[in-house]
Amino acid sequence: MFNIFKKKNHSQKLDMANIPNHVAVIMDGNGRWAKKRGLPRSAGHVVGAKNLEKIIQYAGDIGIKNITLYCFSTENWKRPKDEVDALMKLFVQYMHDYDKLMGDKKARVRFLGTREGIDPEICDLMEEVEKKSEMNDELNVNLCLNYGGREELVNAVKLIAEDVASGKIDPKDITEKDINDRLYTSFAPDPDLIIRPSGELRLSNFLLWQCAYSEFWFSDILWPDFVPKRMEKAIIDFQQRNRRFGGV
Ligand code: IPE
Ligand code: IPE
Ligand code: MG
Repeated sequence: MFNIFKKKNHSQKLDMANIPNHVAVIMDGNGRWAKKRGLPRSAGHVVGAKNLEKIIQYAGDIGIKNITLYCFSTENWKRPKDEVDALMKLFVQYMHDYDKLMGDKKARVRFLGTREGIDPEICDLMEEVEKKSEMNDELNVNLCLNYGGREELVNAVKLIAEDVASGKIDPKDITEKDINDRLYTSFAPDPDLIIRPSGELRLSNFLLWQCAYSEFWFSDILWPDFVPKRMEKAIIDFQQRNRRFGGV
């Protein structure tokens, strides 16, 4: 039987001439990581964020140009208030000190998702970080906060509808590009590789439009333990795949 977690024996090294331009990561498993150690779930988020520091450093080191990270989904508000509060507090800490997250990389930070529902003070901080980093061009670090793929598409539809209503667009002429241009990710190419650690085999509302031809990597390692060496394995595997995009 094919086992999705049984990986090929990789003797290959990372091919620096074939680094994916855009890697997206569903940073899952913090809660289980903490539970296994008898710690509160929020402790798992703190260690998960520490791991993110290492992953961003690594992504910049090997020349990934876009890294998109799922931090908080539009569905994560369903969690107990104390966990949501702890997550928001952690986000705020990193916004105040976003250099720590970026290491020595000149990264441009963007927050992808809807600002609706987020505390206005946090929204101000998000804007501040985006503004302060907007001239950086080493890599794009895209933090999906209050992000949902369906919400993103609804938002794009609303924007198109406004343009139709004002006569800017004729409905007959709507193209894929018109939709793409109105997504939170409009500045980046589609993700080449989507990584989900923690053993779950689903997208959980992540990049639903953009994943049409993405390659996937699932791992049963929990996010706080998904260190750069693990990510390297995923990229080496990606480099050996044959992407056909519907061709032959
Ligand atoms: C982190 O992992 C994802 C966030 C929503 C911050 P989880 O908190 O979902 O951890 P598990 O899946 O419960 O282990
Ligand atoms: C997806 O993980 C969201 C983030 C990693 C931020 P979840 O833990 O929320 O997904 P489900 O509930 O297992 O599908
Ligand atoms: Mg989870």
